[in-house]
Amino acid sequence: MTLNPDTFFGGAPEVNASAPGRVNLLGEHTDYNDGFMLPVATPQRTMVALSRSGDDHFHFYSPNLDATVTFARDGSAPQGFGSYIEGCIRLVQAEGIEVPPLRVYVETDLPVGSGLSSSAALEVAMLRAMRALLEIGPDALDDVKLARIAQRAEIEYARVNCGIMDQMASSLADESNMLFIDARTLEHRLVPLPPDTELIVVDSGVARKLAASKYNERRAECEEGAKKLGVQALRDVADPASVESLPPPLRERARHVVQENLRVLEAAQGVSAERFGELMNASHFSLRDDYEVSIPELDALCEALRAAPGVLGARLTGAGFGGACVALCRKGQAQQAAASALAAYNQDGRQGRILVPVPTDRKDHDEPV
Ligand code: GLA
Repeated sequence: MTLNPDTFFGGAPEVNASAPGRVNLLGEHTDYNDGFMLPVATPQRTMVALSRSGDDHFHFYSPNLDATVTFARDGSAPQGFGSYIEGCIRLVQAEGIEVPPLRVYVETDLPVGSGLSSSAALEVAMLRAMRALLEIGPDALDDVKLARIAQRAEIEYARVNCGIMDQMASSLADESNMLFIDARTLEHRLVPLPPDTELIVVDSGVARKLAASKYNERRAECEEGAKKLGVQALRDVADPASVESLPPPLRERARHVVQENLRVLEAAQGVSAERFGELMNASHFSLRDDYEVSIPELDALCEALRAAPGVLGARLTGAGFGGACVALCRKGQAQQAAASALAAYNQDGRQGRILVPVPTDRKDHDEPV
């Protein structure tokens, strides 16, 4: 039986905080190329409750995993969900802020492994909770700095070599607007969704495979491409045609990044719903053909979504190699479109399901994974 917060804390916790996951609409694999992106926040969130522990140990508990992690003040957490939390603590300490041993209760209704960035939500929720408990002012830890620390926790402690998009989105995005992010300067602004549209996110039912190794391989290819083109990062390519001089597969990787940045910049200026949908489709084809991070199931799911009435565009979202697709739909038509797409997609025994908006009859909503 899982512990509730009252049992874990022996009463009420001192503070509560939460943070959302993200769905990226355009600008995939651009963040580590210093480029641009347009994510939105998910309605699902990760909640963190926090108290001083009152002893000399850190104690973390996740009811989702029914797992406890305990370690001494100067010790370290074993690799797992505790790494993300410990990373946040150690990096706040590295800022010169004193952090006492803590009891941390973390609960999520985000699906894990579907590419909605449950890890960024955990880091951002944890840092928000620490900011509240320790009364850290915005001068010492504003929302952008918080995102940077969250990203470092993921890279240095969870050992996932990610870009900055997920943490920026979790820290600064909302559900009804897109967040335009410049990954180099971390300038950001909210941009409204195209008029009279709504989003739906559908999980392919395929867990991400090879994601980490292929992700690192793509990053290395992009760095090599940038070097050969004599630019600091692919974001700096001034003439899109210049990538055609690169040898394969650097040419295709660079082509994706350069074109994807142009798509984001166009969309962020405000385009019609139809044009936004076209840009999403083009993004998917580029991720499939040039960046080679799609899989047949994601292609089939996007096809099925595009064939449904009311769908303006669909693409894989997140790093690829499994996970979810996002579709832009005419207002009021998303649920029906996803239902008809899933009827076709699930015919071969596949396990596709709607993730966002959260279906009211979702069975795992009260018992999250
Ligand atoms: C993962 C990473 C992000 C970003 C995307 C691809 O979600 O965590 O930083 O690189 O993949 O766009």
